[in-house]
Amino acid sequence: MNIRNCPDNMKMAHLPLKIGHVGTPPLKCQGIKTKLIPFIFRSIQWQEKDKTKWIEPFLGSGVVALNLAPNRALLFDTNEHIIRFYKDIQTGTLNAENVRDFLVAEGAKLLESGGEYFYEVRERFNNKGTSLDFLFLNRSCFNGVMRFNSKGRFNVPFCHKPGRFSQAYVTKITNQIVWASNRIRDKNWMFCAGGWKDALAQAEPNDFVYLDPPYIGRHTDYYNSWNGDEAKELAVATKNLTCGFALSMWLENRYRKNSHIEECWSGLDARICTHFYHVGSTESLRNSMDEGLFVKPGYSTADEGKQSVRKASADTPTVLSLPLDEVV
Ligand SMILES: C[S@@+](CC[C@H](N)C(=O)[O-])C[C@H]1O[C@@H](n2cnc3c(N)ncnc32)[C@H](O)[C@@H]1O
Repeated sequence: MNIRNCPDNMKMAHLPLKIGHVGTPPLKCQGIKTKLIPFIFRSIQWQEKDKTKWIEPFLGSGVVALNLAPNRALLFDTNEHIIRFYKDIQTGTLNAENVRDFLVAEGAKLLESGGEYFYEVRERFNNKGTSLDFLFLNRSCFNGVMRFNSKGRFNVPFCHKPGRFSQAYVTKITNQIVWASNRIRDKNWMFCAGGWKDALAQAEPNDFVYLDPPYIGRHTDYYNSWNGDEAKELAVATKNLTCGFALSMWLENRYRKNSHIEECWSGLDARICTHFYHVGSTESLRNSMDEGLFVKPGYSTADEGKQSVRKASADTPTVLSLPLDEVV
């Protein structure tokens, strides 16, 4: 697989980047990094050059690549529905007009059936798998979760809101399609259904790899059969890369630390960002989570003055805590 050359006059992506407005993709998934985009973009140092590429072996919702909008990108995910969805946007098969028409028509049936129609669409999707049905399910299932059973069938229940596709909601989704399509247009992006090893195999010295693997022991399903052994293998392969890379991973919450970080990702620059979950009626029920970005030395920024720096031992990452304001 080769990426085409892009014209010399195209604006090159550049990190660190202070992003004024974070765009929202049309798809939702577990672990989506929308709120962490400012933190990620100001923590990495990388300059896109002619023929270099941004590589994401774990694309998910696509929010990171879409906000950065590099000229060349190699975007992998084992979830073929995600990849087909973005390929359809890229080719124009999925566009503002057909998304709006579809969601208006299908939303009316959902409302009329009191929600039962969700399960008809789910069955249809599991037999035929179109991007329009995928979008419908993604935006009307319980909590916007993406989960597939052992046979690869989408099995998330309905969100219990028959009036889900209100005019305002359809407009919002349509605008997200337009935004994603504009970000992809005229770019040399390749969307590939496949595993992270195939993505890493194409990394060259001036590329940059952003990794956001599934959480170990969580969200395990047909497309996310992630375990400790695979996570270790990923760490070894990534550390052998000749190009820059950064890995997103949760570090610590109220209950436990993520021991996998010290075991497998030592020796990197760590940028920490505390992410506060505004759930629960009292202060004691609200949990904060430390999210980490582990960057290959030489590719991280010191960022602007406000943070505190703690130099860790040679084996553990250099920790730099960044202010919270942009992520809560
Ligand atoms: C945490 S999500 C990525 C979230 C993404 N960065 C975002 O902000 O939306 C992890 C993704 O990895 C994909 N995945 C799971 N196992 C994989 C594998 N072995 N190779 C490539 N992708 C995989 C899942 O389908 C999922 O979309």
